[in-house]
Amino acid sequence: MTEGLAAAFGEAFGRAPDGVWRAPGRVNLIGEHTDYNDGFVLPFALSRGVTVAAARRDDGVVEVRSRQASTAVTAPVDGPPVVSEGWPAERAWAAYPVGVARVLREHGTGGASLLIDSDLPQGAGLSSSAALECATALALCDLHGVEIDRPALARLAQRAENEQVGMPCGLMDQSASLLCKAGHALMLDCRSGLSSQVPFDPAAAGLTLLVVDTRASHALTGGEYGRRRAECEEAASLLGVDALRDVKDLAAALGSLKDPVLRRRVQHVVTENHRVEATVGLLRAGALPEFGAMLNASHLSLRDQFEVSWPEADATVDAALRAGARGGRMVGGGFGGSVIVLAPAARAERVGEAITAAYEKRGWTPPGFLEAVPSDGARRVS
Ligand code: GLA
Repeated sequence: MTEGLAAAFGEAFGRAPDGVWRAPGRVNLIGEHTDYNDGFVLPFALSRGVTVAAARRDDGVVEVRSRQASTAVTAPVDGPPVVSEGWPAERAWAAYPVGVARVLREHGTGGASLLIDSDLPQGAGLSSSAALECATALALCDLHGVEIDRPALARLAQRAENEQVGMPCGLMDQSASLLCKAGHALMLDCRSGLSSQVPFDPAAAGLTLLVVDTRASHALTGGEYGRRRAECEEAASLLGVDALRDVKDLAAALGSLKDPVLRRRVQHVVTENHRVEATVGLLRAGALPEFGAMLNASHLSLRDQFEVSWPEADATVDAALRAGARGGRMVGGGFGGSVIVLAPAARAERVGEAITAAYEKRGWTPPGFLEAVPSDGARRVS
């Protein structure tokens, strides 16, 4: 892919790139909608991701092209938040790299010509946007000789998505893309930013982790994600804590909240944080099969308390469990995207067939299946 991309860069820009950078997408094992509540998450990086061939420019301009889009976008590095410029839909993808360039400019980076390629399905809830932000961020830092440590770079990429794209995401996706290590999941404390690597090797435990793209495409720039975040902030303020992570006595908190919607949101966030900690304990103890029960509990909580699941996700989990999987849950922000399923390796094929049959029965577009190999985070590849 790297050589092909460098050649394509030559055709597009009439010169060779200075380098090629790659950042992966992610799957979150557990800890959903906890990051913006200052809580815990446990993602791992996929082998699929976004690759960027780039050359430095000193004219204060970013020019971005993508092999997945027909429009080229040229924009000054020095500009207002992209979201305030009201770009038309066909330029929307370029808000991520241009937004990153505008945020990193304050730290000494400048312009670049960028050619982007991706082997991550978009809208599948696997963080193609964070991968694009992180590959761009690494490229810009290297090209302009700026050194920023990776936890700080993750916060800057998150800031670009919040301020430039207008999506109020938490810290998980950018951290996963920049900090993950092969063979491990990343336990991240989203308040302190401290993280540790937790060994995660389903194959060694006789298990397969399937990633099922439900083909119900999600768009988190829509209002539901922001509404959930606002509800969590409102509940935290009513409970007199900085963030829902600080709720220590769930029963007392639920007793003091009148609004049933806020009670459900708090129930999810508090129990999900405990599930992340319990999962880390299980993984460290080598009790990986027991993790299935955590997945199921997380899915029910996301479906019934946080109300972010969608019909294809529920049907996927249901069909997988009936066919002998140990557990499954929706991943990412919700309202579309992917599901993970933990199955005994010997049953994985049967589980996949059962999921496909469930979609067929309902007349839905067949699901996609991805190999989920915990992989290394972002890096320069040439
Ligand atoms: C999206 C956001 C993340 C996180 C998840 C839900 O992926 O980008 O920050 O909030 O949803 O866990």
